[in-house]
This record gives sequence, structure tokens and C-alpha cells, in this order.
Amino acid sequence: MSSSSNSATESTTVHTNMHSFLREDRVFAPPAEFAAKAHVTSLDDYEAMYKRSVDDPEGFWSDAANELEWFTPFTSVVQGEMGSARWFEGGRLNLCHNCVDRHALGVRRDKVAIVWEGEPGEVKRLTYGDLLEQVQVFGNVLKSLGVKKGDRVAIYMGMCPELAIALLACARVGAVHNVIFGGFAAHALVDRINDSECKVVLTQDTSYRRGGEVKLKAIVDEALEKCPGVESVLVHRRSGTAVAMKEGRDLWLDEESAKFAGQACVAEAMESEDPLYILYTSGTTGKPKGLVHTTGGYSVGTYLTSKYNFDLREEDVYWCTADIGWVTGHSYVVYGPLQNGATVLMYEGAPNHPQPDRFWKLIDDHKVTVFYTAPTAIRSFIKWGGEWLKPYSLASLRLLGTVGEPINPESWMWYYREIGHEKCPIVDTWWQTETGAHMIAPVPGAVATKPGSATRPFFGIVPEIVTKEGEPVPAGQGGLLVIRKPWPSMARTIYGDAERYKQAYFSEIPGAYFTGDGARCDADGYYWLMGRVDDVINVSGHRLGTMEIESALVAHPKVAEAAVVGRPDEMKGQAISAFVSLEEGHEPSDELKNELRQWVAKEIGALARPDDLRFTQSLPKTRSGKIMRRLLRELATTGTVTGDTTTLEDFNVIASLRGNEE
Ligand code: WTA
Repeated sequence: MSSSSNSATESTTVHTNMHSFLREDRVFAPPAEFAAKAHVTSLDDYEAMYKRSVDDPEGFWSDAANELEWFTPFTSVVQGEMGSARWFEGGRLNLCHNCVDRHALGVRRDKVAIVWEGEPGEVKRLTYGDLLEQVQVFGNVLKSLGVKKGDRVAIYMGMCPELAIALLACARVGAVHNVIFGGFAAHALVDRINDSECKVVLTQDTSYRRGGEVKLKAIVDEALEKCPGVESVLVHRRSGTAVAMKEGRDLWLDEESAKFAGQACVAEAMESEDPLYILYTSGTTGKPKGLVHTTGGYSVGTYLTSKYNFDLREEDVYWCTADIGWVTGHSYVVYGPLQNGATVLMYEGAPNHPQPDRFWKLIDDHKVTVFYTAPTAIRSFIKWGGEWLKPYSLASLRLLGTVGEPINPESWMWYYREIGHEKCPIVDTWWQTETGAHMIAPVPGAVATKPGSATRPFFGIVPEIVTKEGEPVPAGQGGLLVIRKPWPSMARTIYGDAERYKQAYFSEIPGAYFTGDGARCDADGYYWLMGRVDDVINVSGHRLGTMEIESALVAHPKVAEAAVVGRPDEMKGQAISAFVSLEEGHEPSDELKNELRQWVAKEIGALARPDDLRFTQSLPKTRSGKIMRRLLRELATTGTVTGDTTTLEDFNVIASLRGNEE
């Protein structure tokens, strides 16, 4: 049996190595040339806009919302309290319309909306006009499968234009998409498809990754054996690799699309609070939770943060390297930049295929101006070495962003110097699946940056650092990061579990949104994120719950009990350490260790495979039976335990664990 975790605030232990952050005192003013042309050109302007956004949220957000097109104007800006706030009620709009029609029917019909490069090297360009045609065809195909407003549609695809079009087509007809990252295994698909009650799945034959093929359709077939509710599977032909097609269930997207060529598909007038999508993410306990984002608030949040934090301009070629399977891909590959009418680059494959210069080649070939990636990628580039950069000028770049985990100052400096050539602001964006859009990040023409800090809050966002009793802590001191006021793009609920939503986010600190992150705020009002304070771990920017990995381990017939913790890792941010006790009659061995690591990869996906796994007679527990993760974390990190063990039930456990290292 797996033991569940303790309360989220069990301890404010910070899982990342913080010492280098605490010494950081370098400050970089916005590069002058950049600031001169930016949307917000000075700190005074940022502060005035921020003040207005907080003092007069209704005025501020109503102006922001009115930069988009509404079929029916909203009658109120925000109603209700933190945790149940509703935005732009009375208003009707369609996010696909704001991403596509608004531009295609205006001056951007022939502007490139999406440039896509496949891993093997082929390039496709779609203008806003093309996109309008294709979202209508796709929308009609969905309707022909019986998809109606409010129906859930699962999407399990690789990075190709059809994936972005699939999201937009769902939004167009009012279907709620549930994108499942292409790196997840069949078992993870089953949970997510069944929990959200999807009756249609969109996938593709295979996708290319690191020279090989990811067999997406075959994984869907395996999953659907356990998903009785799914009626149709629509398959995009990406590679042409032969796949099994089940009669009466599976259809080719190209064949279905041909039936609707040139036909219009009207964008549904959605209520502002109608659900837009569900996206599963890991929490402290239990199964992944299906966070529900709604239409109006999410549109406005992703639109405005993209505009200001990436300082998007007409001539930009914008590239966010995230997979659309994660929230970063939803908000900042698809919805945010397209609402701004940007040209978005999408790349299908791995950063080191065929060799480690692929990203730099993409930047030079497509003249990328705004580049948004993750610290884990930056650390890989550093490891691969500077010679891969030499053939490339990277002269088109004007802004660099990061997301997903704290960036260590050394990596920040490398990014600033080697990629940005000291002329690009570094925009470190802190946010979460739950928040829908950036919460803390430097508005780049206005706010000076400090390596390792996400800097200051976005407009309308009121963060605070508190103790676990909810008391504010003084500047410079670490504590829990909460957010005090509602904002438009917050997820509204957990699909099918409104109680868990309240419990997880609004009950730890009454009246505030509990982020699950530790942070400190310095005397200049800059936020320094310090990692999760709960049992969520962050492996290469991918969010995983220790509990999910434990459940996978105990599902193995030889495992009696399992505990999983994160430990700091130079490359991945955090690595996964598993502690396992075996059922009677089974002996620890290297073969079994590997078998269990593979088992987790098969159950959840390769991203969840434990980096190290130790066998133990039993796990350290408190007298009330809770696993003492703090001790396991310390043991996994330092190889020993020095912390308080007075509540430990059986002291011998620690001694035996110490003697059982890798
Ligand atoms: C972490 C990804 C420090 C944080 C957008 C958060 C960060 C979790 C940053 C959310 C950042 C994300 N600096 N930490 N710039 N961005 N995080 O839901 O721990 O996949 O709670 O959303 O990633 O991960 P999620």
C-alpha cells in the first residue's frame, strides 16, 4: 500500500539548491534599444499601469478585454470572491475567432500564422487565411462525428500544425479539448480520457522524435481497450507509417476533411464562463486533476500577458519550444500569440537532432525574434558546449523567455550572454497550469532583471509571501507564495471534483490562492521562486506528483510499499528517487530495480522513470503512520540524515536505509 502525503504545508523545505540565488546581486536594466520601442517603456509606466490594475481592476480588465472581439459585450467585469470569481459575464465570444478570423478577415489574411518545421526538416507555412480555411474544415469534421458544444475531445498528438488546428477547431465549435502530452503512456491516457468522459480522440499515425517514431496511434489503440466511452478516433496522417484502423471507430482526418473542403463553419458564440479546455496536472495527492479553464478570462489573460511580457509586435517571429501537451503550449504556442496576430514557429522534434545545434539553426533559418524555452533546455545547451553556437549569428533575437522551474543565475547569465548577446531582456515567467497565464515576470522594456528572479507581478496580480498560518513575512525571508486577488485566467474548477479544487487551492490560506510554491520577496519587491513546498516534483520542467509514481510502483505485483521524493539534480532541476519495500518472497536485485524503473515508464511515461531506486525493509514513518518524506529527501540528496527524527516510529529504518545506498 502506498501512503499518501502529509498536508501541503507539512514543511516549507525548499527542494532546489538555493545558496547561489541568495548571493545574487546583479541587476540588468532593460536594454536601451529594446526599451525605446517597447509597449511599456519605463518603470514609471509599469508602476502606474500596475497601480491602476490593482486599484481599479474593473477598469483595467475591461479595457484589456475590449482589445478582443466580443459577439455580445459583457455586462460585468468580475463577480464573486477568490475561488469562485466569474469574469466578463453576459459577454459572448469565441477564442478561435479571436485567434484566426479577426486576423484573417482583417489586414493579416496573407500574414504567416504558423511556420512549422518537422524533425526530418520539411517546412510548412500557413497564413491566417489558410488557418481560417482549415479550422472550418476541421470544425465541420468534428461536427460530423457528433461533437457538440460542451462535449469533451481528447487530443494525443505530436507537434504539428494539425495539433494547433485541432485545439482551435474544438474552441470554434465549443467542444472542450483535453490535450494529453504525447510522452504519456497508455495507462495515463486511460485515466485522463475516462475521467473527462471523452467520446472522440484525435491522434496521428506516428510522430518523429530524435530520429525515431513515436507510435501514437498504437498507444491510443492500447488505451482504448479500457475506454468504453470513446466512439470515434480521428487520425492525422503524419508519417504515412502503416497503423491499424478499427472499422466503425477510426477515420482518417484527410479523408474526412475532403468532404468539407471550402465549407464554412460558424464560430459558436460561447458564454464567457463556458469551459474551453481541461488539462490534467499533478497535485499533492491522488490522481492527476483535470483543471478546467473557461473562455473569456483565459482569452484575456493569455492575450494580455503575451502582448506585454513578450512585447509582441507585428514583425515578430515568435518561438515557444514547449510541447502543446503542457499548459505552456496551450497558452503560449497557440492562444496567446495567435490572439496577438503573431507569426508562430512550431518545431516537431528534439533539440539535439540530428545534432545539438538544431535550435540555433532554426532561429537563424526562420529569423526568430522572440524565443521562449525552459531552464532544463538551457542547462543541456551549456553541457553540449559553446562550439555548437559558433556557426550561427542569432542576430534576429530581441527577447528571451524562460519558464517551468527556477533558473539558476549561472544559466541565466549564459542565456543572456551567449544567446542574447547582452541585448535581449531575459523574461523569466513564473506561473502554473492553474493560473492559465503568467503571474510574475518582468515587463521587458520597463522592469530591470536580476538573474534567478522572476521579478515583479503582472498587471492585476497581487502576490504575497506568508507563513503557513497566513501571516505576511518580512522582505527577504522565505515563505509560501499566495495570490490575494482574483485574476481572469484562473482555472475555475477541477473537472468532476469542485470540492478538491476548493480544498487544494483556497483552504490552506483563507482568502488567498495557495500556489504550492515557496518564494521570497526582496526589498525591491522582486520575487525569487524557491521550488514546491508540497509533493509535486519538477523534472526537466515537467510537473509530476510523487503520489502518482508511488501508485504505479505499488501496482507492480512484487512491491509492498513505495515512497518517492525529488532530489536536486544539476541537469533536470529535480531527479526522482524511489524507495521500495518488497512483498514477502521477493529479493532485491539489480534486475528487479531495472524492471521497476521500466514499469513506471510503461505505466506513466518515460518522464516519470525513477532515476534511482533503493530497496528497503520498511519506510520511515511517524508514529501516526505517515511516511517521513523529509528524511527520505535528505537521504536521497545528501546520503545521510541529520534532521529531526524524534517523531520517527522505528529508528532502525534510517540506519538500514543508510546502509543501502546505490
Ligand atoms: C514551477 C508551468 C520558478 C513552479 C507553467 C510552479 C517555476 C510549477 C517557474 C507549475 C519559474 C514554473 N520559476 N518556478 N519561472 N515556472 N515554475 O503547472 O514550481 O506545469 O508551481 O506550469 O512549475 O508547473 P506547471
